[in-house]
Amino acid sequence: MRFLVDWFPALGLSLLGASAVHAVDLSQYAQDLFDEAMPIQDAIYDPVASYLHYFYFPLAAGPHETRSTVWYSAGLLQRNQGTDAHEAATILEKIIGDQEKNTSVQWYGDYTVYPEQPTVGTPAYPPVIYNSWDPNWRGFIGTALIVIYEEFGDLLPAHTQNLILESLYNNTIGDSYRVGGVDGDNLYPAYSNAWLMRTVVTSWTGHKFQDANMTISGDTYTREFLALFDRNGTLSEFNGPTYAGVSLYALTIAAKYLGNTNATIGQNAARVIREIWDYESLLWNANMRNFAGPWDRSYGYDMNKYVAIMASWVWSLAGKTAAFRETSPIWTMTHADDFELAPIIAILSEFHSTLVSDTVRSRLSSFPGEHTYTGHTYAPPADLEPRNITTWLSSNLTIGTDSFNQSVVGGYSEDSTSFSPSVVQWLRSDGSIGYFNLYPTETALQAQVTPYALNLTYPLGNATSSFTFVLASNPLGAKRDIFGLDDVDGLQIEVVGGTVDPIPDISFCGLVGGACDIIHDFEFWNVTFTMPANSSDVPSVQFKFAL
Ligand SMILES: *[C@@H]1O[C@H](CO)[C@@H](O)[C@H](O)[C@H]1NC(C)=O
Ligand SMILES: *[C@@H]1O[C@H](CO)[C@@H](O)[C@H](O)[C@H]1NC(C)=O
Ligand SMILES: *[C@@H]1O[C@H](CO)[C@@H](O)[C@H](O)[C@H]1NC(C)=O
Ligand SMILES: *[C@@H]1O[C@H](CO)[C@@H](O)[C@H](O)[C@H]1NC(C)=O
Ligand SMILES: *[C@@H]1O[C@H](CO)[C@@H](O)[C@H](O)[C@H]1NC(C)=O
Ligand SMILES: *[C@@H]1O[C@H](CO)[C@@H](O)[C@H](O)[C@H]1NC(C)=O
Ligand SMILES: *[C@@H]1O[C@H](CO)[C@@H](O)[C@H](O)[C@H]1NC(C)=O
Ligand SMILES: *[C@@H]1O[C@H](CO)[C@@H](O)[C@H](O)[C@H]1NC(C)=O
Ligand SMILES: *[C@@H]1O[C@H](CO)[C@@H](O)[C@H](O)[C@H]1NC(C)=O
Ligand SMILES: *[C@@H]1O[C@H](CO)[C@@H](O)[C@H](O)[C@H]1NC(C)=O
Ligand SMILES: *[C@@H]1O[C@H](CO)[C@@H](O)[C@H](O)[C@H]1NC(C)=O
Ligand SMILES: *[C@@H]1O[C@H](CO)[C@@H](O)[C@H](O)[C@H]1NC(C)=O
Repeated sequence: MRFLVDWFPALGLSLLGASAVHAVDLSQYAQDLFDEAMPIQDAIYDPVASYLHYFYFPLAAGPHETRSTVWYSAGLLQRNQGTDAHEAATILEKIIGDQEKNTSVQWYGDYTVYPEQPTVGTPAYPPVIYNSWDPNWRGFIGTALIVIYEEFGDLLPAHTQNLILESLYNNTIGDSYRVGGVDGDNLYPAYSNAWLMRTVVTSWTGHKFQDANMTISGDTYTREFLALFDRNGTLSEFNGPTYAGVSLYALTIAAKYLGNTNATIGQNAARVIREIWDYESLLWNANMRNFAGPWDRSYGYDMNKYVAIMASWVWSLAGKTAAFRETSPIWTMTHADDFELAPIIAILSEFHSTLVSDTVRSRLSSFPGEHTYTGHTYAPPADLEPRNITTWLSSNLTIGTDSFNQSVVGGYSEDSTSFSPSVVQWLRSDGSIGYFNLYPTETALQAQVTPYALNLTYPLGNATSSFTFVLASNPLGAKRDIFGLDDVDGLQIEVVGGTVDPIPDISFCGLVGGACDIIHDFEFWNVTFTMPANSSDVPSVQFKFAL
């Protein structure tokens, strides 16, 4: 504790000032979310280790996990029954105890990914960003520590409260080492969720310690974020069902705990949250319980089949049945580990919901009728120019696309499995969702959408280009095999023009068989249109759809 002794008196501040709130009053929807999330975590909590088991690798042989355990500790403090608060303090002491203390390493102030891991930077465990260490864990854990300190600090021993502050201080310094394009890091202002988490932790910690270097950094990060956001009122990391939820989470912390300071993020967060919901609610199809495309960085193709963090926000605002059609337990869905954030979403949702208009809330519960959304977003350095977004939504069919010109294939995160620039979804007769989504293979796409029609062109393509679509399997009871587009259940897909060979190659990418790998645990039919050999045409394909 030398650090504390040296620093805190020198600052001459009384840093302990947590409010005397013992639990946040939750709305019925938020309480339902909380009550469904906590038992899952209670069941995988190992009180001997004071860590949750590693749910992202549910079948792994024994390791625990750090980040989700911090989230759980916030839930324990909100519940505060029996030994809950005591467990939370033990968790926090352990996790902060393992925080990196060497100021010279790139991962200074970061937390372990899991407590059993070898020491990062030893010969057996080289530092590999986003693998052996994850730079975003400072943001994820730091933001959670702020919620814990602000809401429940007085439930923790003074020593633990001080440790949280010390942890956030080191976290902020370490996070300032991050520079996009340097040392393998990709933290540019366009990486919205991670950029916002760093901004919020830096600003909050700067205000707490009255450290001008930190508050100035936090204000600078905010201005760089706003320079992108305010172009068109959109996140650069556009419409990601998981990561828009993380951006809202970070912004809610800024609005709630910095809104009464002069921190630039505190001054702007509530407005930004409203603007995000303005467009996200226009992209939400309440009949299908999905955000229509296009999606930057999605972990699946149908939000009823995976847990996206936006679903937890929708749940907190409009109830579980607004968010999910599925009745199977949440923990059976893919990416269910993201539900481990739900206790904190529930805690924050009381404040968050005060920023959400009745219009937005009503769009989340019932589809407002056919409409077209047009917008723009810009995520440099991947985007060489702003992207143009057009999404047509009808009650049972949505078509959403990006036109883009990028420096890499797969968008900002260079990942074709998560960048979904052209998304068609439809409601099938059994209530399930079909999808027919472009799998990106090119750096530029021109897309036009009108009701029931979609044109796609690769301006930089050539005869070797192909258009690959990820097509949902038919529902149970419908055709098991897809030999041609006529076999697709619930949607007629017709190629009406373009320069491709109109007969696609079709293969199956299955869980236990087929020609190719599943994507984010979704199996699918791979529908690939190729160009006639030696064609000198610009590759294009034009579709018409009918329900
Ligand atoms: C801290 O890290 C630097 C750079 O890897 C290394 O040279 C130094 O020995 C480390 N310090 C300690 C106390 O481990
Ligand atoms: C914070 O970093 C300092 C080194 O700058 C270290 O001495 C201290 O133990 C760290 N605190 C925590 C909580 O990791
Ligand atoms: C604070 O100042 C130091 C230089 O003294 C710098 O390295 C660091 O990035 C600055 N930012 C924060 C957030 O502390
Ligand atoms: C979007 O931003 C661009 C500047 O990049 C501007 O020209 C355009 O008018 C904006 N559009 C809207 C709808 O705000
Ligand atoms: C916030 O207030 C402090 C102290 O008065 C001042 O130094 C700082 O410049 C202000 N920041 C902004 C962004 O106005
Ligand atoms: C949409 O699907 C629902 C449920 O299958 C059906 O009742 C409704 O008629 C459909 N609406 C349109 C416009 O196709
Ligand atoms: C977006 O639309 C603008 C205005 O029509 C156009 O100039 C620009 O080239 C388009 N961008 C892309 C990437 O297609
Ligand atoms: C993409 O952007 C670059 C840089 O602005 C430009 O040179 C190029 O012509 C654009 N390509 C397309 C296909 O629009
Ligand atoms: C697609 O292209 C064809 C041929 O140029 C055109 O007739 C049609 O209107 C376009 N469709 C859309 C959705 O822009
Ligand atoms: C077609 O494009 C690919 C990818 O850019 C390139 O590798 C290939 O050389 C091009 N082929 C021709 C014939 O231009
Ligand atoms: C889809 O199938 C084509 C062959 O038709 C193959 O080249 C491509 O790698 C497959 N794509 C995916 C994402 O499975
Ligand atoms: C395509 O071009 C190659 C090389 O010029 C030639 O060998 C081949 O026969 C051509 N294929 C067709 C279908 O014209």
